[in-house]
Amino acid sequence: MTSAAPLDLLGRPMHDLRVSVTDRCNFRCVYCMPKEIFGRDHAFLPRAEILDFEEIERIVRASVSLGVRKVRLTGGEPLVRRNLETLVAMVAAIDGVEDLTLTTNASLLAPKARALADAGLHRVTVSLDALDDATFQAMNDVGFPVSRVLDGIRAAEEAGLGPVKVNTVIRRGLNEHAVLDLAERFRGTATAVRFIEYMDVGHTNGWRLDDVVPAADVVAAIDARWPLVPVAGDYRGEVAQRYRYRDGGGEIGVISSVTQPFCGDCTRARLSADGQLFTCLFATAGHDLRGLIRSGASDADLAEALRVIWTRRDDRYSELRTLETVDLPKVEMSFIGG
Ligand SMILES: C[S@@+](CC[C@H](N)C(=O)[O-])C[C@H]1O[C@@H](n2cnc3c(N)ncnc32)[C@H](O)[C@@H]1O
Ligand code: SF4
Repeated sequence: MTSAAPLDLLGRPMHDLRVSVTDRCNFRCVYCMPKEIFGRDHAFLPRAEILDFEEIERIVRASVSLGVRKVRLTGGEPLVRRNLETLVAMVAAIDGVEDLTLTTNASLLAPKARALADAGLHRVTVSLDALDDATFQAMNDVGFPVSRVLDGIRAAEEAGLGPVKVNTVIRRGLNEHAVLDLAERFRGTATAVRFIEYMDVGHTNGWRLDDVVPAADVVAAIDARWPLVPVAGDYRGEVAQRYRYRDGGGEIGVISSVTQPFCGDCTRARLSADGQLFTCLFATAGHDLRGLIRSGASDADLAEALRVIWTRRDDRYSELRTLETVDLPKVEMSFIGG
């Protein structure tokens, strides 16, 4: 028997699992899957290399036996994976999963929201980088309109998948004006917008520190218009720093992974679509769980492998980030799920 709830070398438990269900996406966000790299002839993973739902379910179950309570389905765009609601139902049925969420660009959400909720999904996070089509389309780079993302948010709320969180990546020179636009649009609703610092994930987005708008500047800009008060975090490892409007207009959050790294509290593991477990968003290599499963490992073998991986974990890339680390090999965000 494996011992429950192992800690890594820095004393951090495994609490969250992010599962990437596909490396494909119908958007080409310039900060994530730029068209020049992810073009027509880009080689995505062949189907045989992608975990099937049973394999994903086994890995989630093993991770729950080691302490995971929160599971987030992501991608690529998770809703391009066919019958995702079947996987949702399988994961929702695992005893110990307390929070089951989905991160999506919402392009395919409106017609799917009801089926996802019925299958047992708890909440969704929707990525939306601007409220004006000119900016949003320049960022998603496939001409997708804002109105259909807002339709997806509405459908999710109607299906009981709320309160919806909105993720917004701010990249200097592209969408700084979206900070006040989005804050204003969702003030007075249950939706919290979380502004994310543009991160140096992957190699393809040409990241430069100059393109990062520090979260502190985002907070200052909103606070100057609608005064904010900090809110204490819900649990260890929570990624967003939360603020509420002093006048009771709801909440916003910022994710300051570049300017104020929070590795010391990071309780997340990430599973790529082809079954590699990454113990850090910036890890250069994953641990091959697909090979283990396909060579006949039992559930106990799988849990033991996860325990060994976790107890050897010492990643704290963001805290060590220096000019030298910028050139280290990294995994693409669309592969590992953000
Ligand atoms: C990789 S996406 C996958 C799920 C889904 N396609 C979506 O966009 O919500 C997950 C999150 O990562 C964020 N993201 C992607 N590239 C990023 C980058 N370079 N820096 C910060 N956040 C990034 C996206 O904005 C999104 O909120
Ligand atoms: S951020 Fe999400 S929607 Fe945009 S390209 Fe990446 S995976 Fe696709």
